[in-house]
Amino acid sequence: MAGVTDAAYRQFIKGIAPQTIVYTEFLSTDAIHYGAKRTMQMLHFDSDKERPFIVQVFGKDPNHFLSAAKVIEELGADGIDINMGCPAAKVVSSCHGSALIQKPEIAQELVYAAKKAVSIPVSVKTRLGWNTDETLIPFCQKLVEAGADALAIHGRTYQQQFSGNADWGPMYELKKEVNVPVIGNGDIKTAQDAVEKIGNLDGVMVGRGTFGNPWVMREIYEALKKGLEPGLELGLSSAFEEKVPCILQHCELAVRNKGEERGMREMRKHLSSYVKGFPGAAELRAKLVRVERLEEVRQLLQV
Ligand SMILES: Cc1cc2nc3c(=O)[nH]c(=O)nc-3n(C[C@H](O)[C@H](O)[C@H](O)COP(=O)(O)O)c2cc1C
Repeated sequence: MAGVTDAAYRQFIKGIAPQTIVYTEFLSTDAIHYGAKRTMQMLHFDSDKERPFIVQVFGKDPNHFLSAAKVIEELGADGIDINMGCPAAKVVSSCHGSALIQKPEIAQELVYAAKKAVSIPVSVKTRLGWNTDETLIPFCQKLVEAGADALAIHGRTYQQQFSGNADWGPMYELKKEVNVPVIGNGDIKTAQDAVEKIGNLDGVMVGRGTFGNPWVMREIYEALKKGLEPGLELGLSSAFEEKVPCILQHCELAVRNKGEERGMREMRKHLSSYVKGFPGAAELRAKLVRVERLEEVRQLLQV
């Protein structure tokens, strides 16, 4: 997730739920092709703490996909995921992200190019369709034909952006028609959601549900492993005081990866999510969104 799944967040999530497969923020294949400094820095990962390491990319030029895929493989990544779902105006107007749903031939070429360049798996993350879910199966069949090794589907169309509820029905139908793993995505906030929604799919992908609650990944893993009965609670969520050491660990990872100034600035949004719903949260949040140093967080959380 752009602006969220940096190395610190990925390592933090893996520390809580080691079975989670983490993805980078989406990175431009054009930028990787040209070796743009900032993007190349975003490819740094901790080989001991982030496996399997999946790099998500976006773009539209097959030649740039080919060279970017090679760079990614040489860096030691375990997989490449192609973004064909981002609905942001800036992304779509450049024929990236969701725009590729309307250009299945280009979408296929991008998968071909990446597959030709590397031997690690290449997957695609997309949406139900542009303005209807009726194109989901034919579009995904084309991607699989081109060599896609797995698919992750966000249960909304481009047109829906983030409105309404994610519809998982079309994903279950898709799974019956393709012979690659299909991962479902959209509106999973609890372990119970995951158990109720996974159906015939091979996994669930969680985005916003981890904001302020990264512990949900462990709950989901445990629930899916045990086959939690709908309605049962796992009770893994702990009190705020018990979460404080984890929150500080996330801050420490951010500082280690990006330095104190930038690391703590970028931590502010996470800190704000962590205290949501707790007594005195508004007052605490007002202070946490201004922190500049790790020590300030320690003082504010009184440890
Ligand atoms: C802040 C933010 C950044 C995102 N960045 C990406 C991204 O880089 N790549 C991607 O495939 N999806 C991205 N998404 C979409 C999510 O991966 C996910 O498909 C969507 O939020 C629905 O799932 P959720 O209900 O679990 O959040 C982003 C979503 C948000 C809210």
